[in-house]
Order: sequence, then structure tokens, then C-alpha cells
Amino acid sequence: MRILWAVACLPLLLAAQEPDKKDKKKQLYEPLPPIAVVKLDRKEPVDFDKDIKPIFENKCETCHGGAIQEGKLDMTTVAALLKGGKKGPALVPGKPDESLLVKLAGRTDVPPMPPKDDEPLTPEELALVKLWIAQGAVSSGVAAPKAGPKLGKLPANVQPVMSLALAPDKALLAVGRGAQIHLYETATGKFVRALVQPDLKDEAGQPLAQAQLDLVHALAFHPGGQLLAAAGFQEVILWNVKEGTVARRVDGFADRVLALDFAPDGQLLAAAGGPPTGEGELRLINVASGEVVTAAKQPHSDTIFGVRFSPDGKLLASAAADKFVKLWEVPSLKFVKAFEGHTHQVLDVGWRADGKLLVTAGADHVLKTWDVAAGEQVRTIGGHGRQITRLVMLTARPEVLTSCGDAWVRLWNVDNGARLRNFGGAGDYLYALVGSSDGAVVAAGGQDGLVRVYNGVNGQVTHTLAPPAPTTPAK
Ligand code: HEC
Repeated sequence: MRILWAVACLPLLLAAQEPDKKDKKKQLYEPLPPIAVVKLDRKEPVDFDKDIKPIFENKCETCHGGAIQEGKLDMTTVAALLKGGKKGPALVPGKPDESLLVKLAGRTDVPPMPPKDDEPLTPEELALVKLWIAQGAVSSGVAAPKAGPKLGKLPANVQPVMSLALAPDKALLAVGRGAQIHLYETATGKFVRALVQPDLKDEAGQPLAQAQLDLVHALAFHPGGQLLAAAGFQEVILWNVKEGTVARRVDGFADRVLALDFAPDGQLLAAAGGPPTGEGELRLINVASGEVVTAAKQPHSDTIFGVRFSPDGKLLASAAADKFVKLWEVPSLKFVKAFEGHTHQVLDVGWRADGKLLVTAGADHVLKTWDVAAGEQVRTIGGHGRQITRLVMLTARPEVLTSCGDAWVRLWNVDNGARLRNFGGAGDYLYALVGSSDGAVVAAGGQDGLVRVYNGVNGQVTHTLAPPAPTTPAK
């Protein structure tokens, strides 16, 4: 009955959407045969961390965890599941049959989860999830042990590190932590200052001591080293790093800005992003004036996560949630070609130093390399346990650094796919990565709010950058 209702109402729900989006939505909402119902012979209680989390990690979190939260649903914790997504709580403790995630994963309602092309839950997995919810959706909090040392107590208001940028001379490391930007000396790990907009206030009129109101999803140093671009909600802020002041502000973006890159000559800044599961946005900005030079028309049908200028600055590559990687002429943003092959969102893109090979990072846990001239895929590189959130190309050698949701940073040879080095020690999901072009300095940060700086040559952690104490004056 409910399926019929949903199908019948679909045209109404979709009427207001773009044609392209509409087709996508329609496909997503097409019912699939229900998963078989089996009875489990299980005596011991079912625990989220031990029994359920591994199933979700394997079959759901590519789209519902970390950098990507389709339907605004995060499935990584019980609290997040109870909070739910666009349609409300994903589960009702004690009531499996009323729980949205059971209906969708069991395919008795639409949209079937995971969507058509992904591996569905097995009848046994579904039965275990249902039993877990029936028993009250309990979480022991004792997860399978994770690698890496844990640091001492952190400030209560720990914010995830979503972005990092390294100054061209490597001296300064900028950390986007929540809505704050913290600057550190790379060599010593010493906290230098926070970038703060003094006029930012909360609803009660209290000063916020933040860089911006929204999460800092991307940071980029200008090749000259004096300016730092920070991505915000509907705006990009250019900071004068030395003075700690706002140099220019570029607004007018439709939604979140998620990716930034300066052209090699420093004259243009590419900024891209878009609303979650809405059309992507891509603009070129004149750095000197802050004016928009070009805005691409419908560049991607979904959010753009990565942009990178070619080494000669003549082309721009974009990577997006619509699974496409695209090339654009600079500065016209005339479409050149598209690369298709990732099975999930593409989260970042980079160029080999000769400009002939593209490297892309996917939510499908793989790196891909592409021949730019031929427009064809060359290689798929596996060996990542989760979404690959960022990549950094080295210029001295054909090598790429990756940060991954499985808490590892890795170094790869892009020509033969060999893994050259692992950088460990992080205990949590990694979102942000930087590396110097020679690979000597590497830093990564993520969910736990910490940044680990590595010696790129031997993979050892040289410093762990914790958030500055809240009382530290932002001088
Ligand atoms: C390939 C990506 C993908 C995978 C894998 C995936 N989902 Fe989804 N999920 C989506 C998308 C896209 C939506 C949003 C649908 C819409 O727009 O209404 C969604 C929505 C949902 C929602 C509704 C959220 C809300 O409140 O709107 C639930 C519940 C859900 N998924 C559960 C699951 C479960 C359980 C799994 C694993 C068994 C799973 N999903 C795997 C893409 C995915």
C-alpha cells in the first residue's frame, strides 16, 4: 500500500525539479524486489559497534558518512541515526518495522537502499539489523580497536579539520577547523595565530572569535604566499595572512564552496561547490579585483568537490558527485571533455607535472588515472579502505598522496600504481591533506580535530597539532 502511495505521489514531488534531476530521482525511487525475511538463531544481544557498524561501513557509509551524507543522513553513530535525515529519524528503537532504514534497506519502501547498482544487504544482515533495533538499538561504545595512539583530553568543543593549506615556502600551515582558521609554524608545530573576523556575532550578539560562520571546507595559499583563500557558505574570503585581516570577500555563490585552487600564475582563483545533491557551481575569480571572471553554466548535475588547474594553467579539471570528471578551458570555462568511470562521487582531482595524466579520488575507494589527450582511463588503484577524501600530486616525481576515511595517508606511484609509503597514527576519519611539491612535508587532519605533520621521507609523525586552548588570545 505504502509503495503504491509513494509511486503515485512521485510525479507531484518531482514536478518542481530540473529535468535532469528529475530522471535521476525517478530512477532512484523505482522499487526493487524486497530482501527475503529470514529468522536468526541468535541468543546473545546485538550490539551496534560490534555487529551493525561493520555492515553499515561496508554497504551504506560510502554515501552516508564522512564527507558525503546523502539525504542528509549520517549512519556512523546511533545518535546520528536517531537524528536521521531529510525524512526524519532513520530508526525507532524497539520498532524495526516502523524504522525507515529497515523499510528502505529491506526494500519494502522507496527509495531502495542502497540504490540499484550497489550491493544490497543479505537477508541475514537485514535480520540482524532488525533484531538489533527490536532489542532497543543498543550501542556498547566498544568498537573494534583502531590503530594509532590516542591523545590526552581535548577541549570539549573539538571541531573537525576539514581543510589544510601549506604556504609556498612551507613555513606556515593553515588549518580549517570547524569555522575557525588556525595558523601554525610547520617546522616547530607552534601555534601562531587564529584568523578572526572581529565583527562576527552569534544570535545573542556575543563575539564569535571565528574566521567565518560556516565550516571551512577548503583553504588555498596564493602562490605569492601573502593571501589565503578560505571557502565558506556562499562566499570565499581572501585573508591577508601577515596582518590577519580580510583582504577581499567574494560573495554571490548559490551555496557551500567546497573546493579552491589558485592558477599557477596567481591571477585567477577557481572556486566550486554547490548544495548537497543540487547542481554544481564553478567560477573563476580575478584575484586582484575579487570580481567573477567566468561562471560555468550547469557544469555538473551535482556538487563539485575538487578543482585543479593544469600545470600550464590553460585548463581546469573538476571532480563532482555526479561521478564525472570534466575539463574546462581557462578562462572561458568552455567545456573540453568529460571522463567517466568512477562508480560513486569523485572527491578530488590532480595533474601529473607534465599535464598529460589526470588522477582522481573516489568515494568508491579507488584512485583512477586518465590519459588527458585520449580521454581514457589508464589505471584503477585500489588499496583504500574507505572514501578517498583528498589527493595531493607531487611535482618532483610521478607520485600522489591520498587521505582516506580509513584514517590512513598513503603515497602512490601514479605510473605503475605501486604503494610507496603509509602515514599512520590518525585514529579517525581524515578529510584534509597537504603536501609540499617535493613530498618532504605532509600533513593530514580529520574528525578528531587534530593535524598530524609527517616527515614525508620516512613517514614519521613530527608534530601533532591540537586546537589552541580556548583562552589563547587571538593575537
Ligand atoms: C550509492 C549511494 C548510497 C548508498 C550506498 C546508500 N544510500 Fe541511502 N541514500 C542515498 C541517496 C542518494 C539518498 C537520498 C534519496 C532522496 O533524495 O530522497 C539516500 C537516502 C537514504 C535514507 C533516507 C534519508 C532521509 O531522511 O531522507 C535512508 C534511511 C537510507 N538512505 C538508508 C541507507 C542504508 C540503510 C544504506 C545501506 C544498507 C544506504 N542507505 C546506502 C544513497 C545511498
